[in-house]
Amino acid sequence: MGLDEASVKPHERLADHLAEDMAAVDALIRERMVSQHAPRIPEVSAHIVGAGGKRLRPMLTLAAAEMCGYQGAYHRHLAATVEFIHTATLLHDDVVDESGQRRGRPTANLLWDNKSSVLVGDYLFARSFQLMVETGSLRVLDILSNAAATIAEGEVLQLTAAQNLATDEAIYLQVIRGKTAALFSAATEVGGVIAAAPDDQVAALFTYGDALGVAFQIVDDLLDYGGNAAATGKNVGDDFRERKLTLPVIKAVAAADTEERAFWSRVIEAGDQRDGDLDLALSLLAKHGTMEATRLEALDWASQAKGALRALPEHPIRQMLNDLADYVVARIS
Ligand code: IPE
Ligand code: IPE
Ligand code: MG
Ligand code: MG
Repeated sequence: MGLDEASVKPHERLADHLAEDMAAVDALIRERMVSQHAPRIPEVSAHIVGAGGKRLRPMLTLAAAEMCGYQGAYHRHLAATVEFIHTATLLHDDVVDESGQRRGRPTANLLWDNKSSVLVGDYLFARSFQLMVETGSLRVLDILSNAAATIAEGEVLQLTAAQNLATDEAIYLQVIRGKTAALFSAATEVGGVIAAAPDDQVAALFTYGDALGVAFQIVDDLLDYGGNAAATGKNVGDDFRERKLTLPVIKAVAAADTEERAFWSRVIEAGDQRDGDLDLALSLLAKHGTMEATRLEALDWASQAKGALRALPEHPIRQMLNDLADYVVARIS
């Protein structure tokens, strides 16, 4: 491997490999995000889609389909479907989380309002369903509609898990499997299904996507405390302000002494947050080493994802997906 190749980040290598397909997916997204009847729709959708994003999920669909030998063009529809579902959930999620920054831009809920974000999100959801129907495959409809329901369940479960210090690692895993990993696993699975891959390969693609998605969200939760807003394009400390029980906090609560527990109870349960509390929370995460412990769990999920790849055919993309698992843990954006 030459120096240039080595210095390209793994997900960029996958993006390079899929560049032509991704350009077609992008064109499809832009074509379908418009509306002739409601000008607010293209305003809001251009704002969030135009800001980019990593486009990880559509790449997973394209990669899975190609790796399984797919020759048709519907993998692009499926990739666009997956990115539409993702974009719709981001619009909704920023309302629910009262977030102010996304993809390096002010959120749609801040620039317009909650109503516009919810309704344009609904529109993009509906557009995603139209796109997947065009594939004519009931099996992909089944997978993606189930994923959409599971994502919503995960977000709703998170509502009741937040602000509750009794939330443990099992509940956390249930939340992130639902809200995040379900779309990753659906993205990889439908790629295999559209390619008519054998059942064991489709199952391996599902397992890879699921484990990758769990690792991805664990790292997202780390970045919410330890990340850099300029890199993530999102504000640091949103999860603390929203009183979410994410893994670094769950571990710190489990290790807390009486005084520390009183602190967590005040800021998370009572929601009485004062200046300096985020710094104090960070110092408790550091004291108990919970950021490192959380990262180790992400690494473990990434290695489970890599393990699942062994059941898949020998293909250059398989190595890229292997490297992608490392990237989701190492990433800073
Ligand atoms: C953000 O996902 C939502 C989570 C599941 C954490 P991404 O980090 O993939 O968002 P974009 O698409 O790159 O902006
Ligand atoms: C992921 O959770 C949300 C979705 C699955 C839409 P977060 O709330 O952590 O995502 P960010 O941090 O806002 O991107
Ligand atoms: Mg959020
Ligand atoms: Mg987050």
